[in-house]
Amino acid sequence: MKTGRLILLTATALVMIGLDSCGTNKAKEMVTTEDFGSFEGKEVFLYTLTNKQGDIIKLTNYGATIVEISVPDRDGNKANVTFGYDSFDGYLNGDLYFGKVVGQYANRIAKGKFTLDDVEYTLALNNGPNTLHGGPTGWHSRVWTAEVLKNTDYPAVKFTYNKPDMEEGYPGNVVAEVVYTWTDDNEIIMDYKVTTDRRTVLNITNHAYFNLHGAGVGDILDHEVLIRASAFTPVDSTLIPTGELRPVEGTPFDFRTPHLVGERIGEEYDQLVLGGGYDHNFVLDNVEQVDAEVYDPSTGRVLQVITDQPGVQLYTGNFLNGTQTGRGGKVYQYRSGLCLETQHYPDSPNQASFPSVILTPEEPFLTSTTYKFGVR
Ligand code: GLA
Repeated sequence: MKTGRLILLTATALVMIGLDSCGTNKAKEMVTTEDFGSFEGKEVFLYTLTNKQGDIIKLTNYGATIVEISVPDRDGNKANVTFGYDSFDGYLNGDLYFGKVVGQYANRIAKGKFTLDDVEYTLALNNGPNTLHGGPTGWHSRVWTAEVLKNTDYPAVKFTYNKPDMEEGYPGNVVAEVVYTWTDDNEIIMDYKVTTDRRTVLNITNHAYFNLHGAGVGDILDHEVLIRASAFTPVDSTLIPTGELRPVEGTPFDFRTPHLVGERIGEEYDQLVLGGGYDHNFVLDNVEQVDAEVYDPSTGRVLQVITDQPGVQLYTGNFLNGTQTGRGGKVYQYRSGLCLETQHYPDSPNQASFPSVILTPEEPFLTSTTYKFGVR
C-alpha cells in the first residue's frame, strides 16, 4: 500500500515536473511580437498570446491595450469578443478607450478640480464640465514599455508607464505597471502595481468592451448580467456621483440575480434617464469569488469578472453610434458592447465618504482583476 502510494506520488511528481518545464518553455514561445506602428518616436508592437487550448489574446503597448480576445462558443466556434482596431491608425483616431488601461484617474473628476493636502489641482476638461479617464492625453494614449515575461507558467506581458510629475495635472512621478497573463483556463489576469514619489490620487482600470456574440455582431441587450453589488452611486446630469450610495433593491440596478441588459434599460427610472442607459458605478459586495458575470444565451459564452477593487462601472455602450470600424471591418453600433470597468468610485478625490484614492510614496497600490471566459 505504502509502496504503491509512493510510486503514484513519484509518477505524479514526474508528470508535474514534465508539465511544468513544458509549460515554462511553451510560455516563452507562446508570445509572438510584431510591429504595429510608432508614436512620438516610440515603437508600438502587437503581441499575440496563445494558451494551451490554442485560444489567443492580442495586446499592444500603446495604452497597454487588449486588442483581441478570441474564444470559443459552446460549439467550439471561435470569435473575437472585444472591441479593437485592425491597425495602429485606428487606435490613434479612436477615442472610446477600447481595451485600454486608463489612468491616472479612471472615470470622472468633477469640474476638473481636486484638493490634496490643501493644494488645489486643476485638470483638463474633456467631458463637458468634467475630466474623464485621466484627461485627453492620459495613460490610454501613451506608449508603454513592454517586456515579454520569461519563466512564467502562462504567456504573460508586462507594460510599464513612467508618468512625469504634473503630466495631465496630476502630482507625482508615478510608475504604473500592468502584467497581463493569459492562462490555460482562458483567464486574462491583470495585475497592477502603481508607485509614486509624491502624494497623489489614482484610479486605474481596463476599459475593454465586450460582446459575447462576437464584437460587431448585434447588440448586448440580450446579454444576461449579474453584479454582486447591493448599492450603486447615483449621478447628476454630468455623470458625477451625488455622494449617495443607493441600495439596488427594487431598482433596475439590482443585478444580484441575473437580468438581461435590455430588460429594464428603457425604464423611466431617474438614473437610467440621466445615464442614457447604464453608465454607473456599482458598489461591490466583494464577498464571493466572482464579482460580476455576463452570459450570452445564444452562444453560451460566459465572462466572469473577479476583482479586489471596490467598484465596477457598468457601461452599456450608450455613446457608440456606428462611427467606429473595428477589427475585420466590423462596425460598432449603439449598445453593441458593454464594459465592466473595475475601479474606485468616480470623483472620489472630491467625495470624502468614498474609499480613499490617495496614493503615497510609502505604499504601492496593488490590485488585480481577472476576466475569465467560458461557456455553458
Ligand atoms: C466610461 C464612461 C462613459 C463613456 C465611456 C467612454 O465608461 O463612464 O460615460 O465616457 O467611458 O466612451
